Amino acid sequence: MQKIHTVAELRARLADETTVAFVPTMGNLHEGHIELVRIARARGSCVVVSIFVNPLQFGPNEDFDKYPRTLEADCEKLQGLADVVFAPAVSDMYPEKQTIFVEPPPIAKELCGEFRPGHFMGVATVVLKLFNLVQPQVAVFGKKDYQQLAIIRQMVIQLNLPIEIVGAETSRAADGLALSSRNQYLSGAERTEAVFLSQTLRGMAEALKGGTTDYAALEREAGAALAKRGWVVEYVAIRSQKDLGVPGQGERKLVVLAAARLGKTRLIDNFEVCL
Ligand code: PAF
Repeated sequence: MQKIHTVAELRARLADETTVAFVPTMGNLHEGHIELVRIARARGSCVVVSIFVNPLQFGPNEDFDKYPRTLEADCEKLQGLADVVFAPAVSDMYPEKQTIFVEPPPIAKELCGEFRPGHFMGVATVVLKLFNLVQPQVAVFGKKDYQQLAIIRQMVIQLNLPIEIVGAETSRAADGLALSSRNQYLSGAERTEAVFLSQTLRGMAEALKGGTTDYAALEREAGAALAKRGWVVEYVAIRSQKDLGVPGQGERKLVVLAAARLGKTRLIDNFEVCL
């Protein structure tokens, strides 16, 4: 496995590769990331993992500075799985002040986008830059960041990028909590409580499968149940898997999504539901 820090080195290393499978990450790798890399391994002869904490996707009061940076440990976890780890400096990814951005589709202003203005513009812009640098045939993203995956899929279609986007199922802890680098911000008591988010969404998914059709009431009740236990709820929503829009009558492929804060930690989760 080769660890590469500069764009020039990356381009030289990948020049003769024919099937590159790419996993973009911000590092601090956990089993969820490793699963994405395993999927990439099965899809390409050369697997590239990028590790870059992208300043453009963090708001001014978010956790950019404290986001865990654990490059050495990450590289150890990738030994034998990845061929190339690309860990550029901010100055490599942003050689000059970024004044050109990817304007994401309108859905980027809803759900997480309502609470993290500019976030998906930052994500789409850095992912496009990474795609330009790595030029993969396949790229793997986790469904845990469901809205991100939907926006990247739209970007790839609308910008005619010749890249197959693979969405991987969310990896979960034994109690059901979705794996996330941010879980480590949780105190012991918060970690115990955190599972309530996935339990709530799972309960909503079951209710939908059981025939409940009053989506607004389900969303309201789930939000209230979380709030009663001390969560600060940003949103609980039932949307269409297709485009994350509000589902129309008879829509059968749904996704239940939420974002909520427990103490200082913001958690997101989702479950797909096929009726
Ligand atoms: O999901 C992430 O880790 C990031 O948003 C990504 C896709 C690596 C872009 O910085």
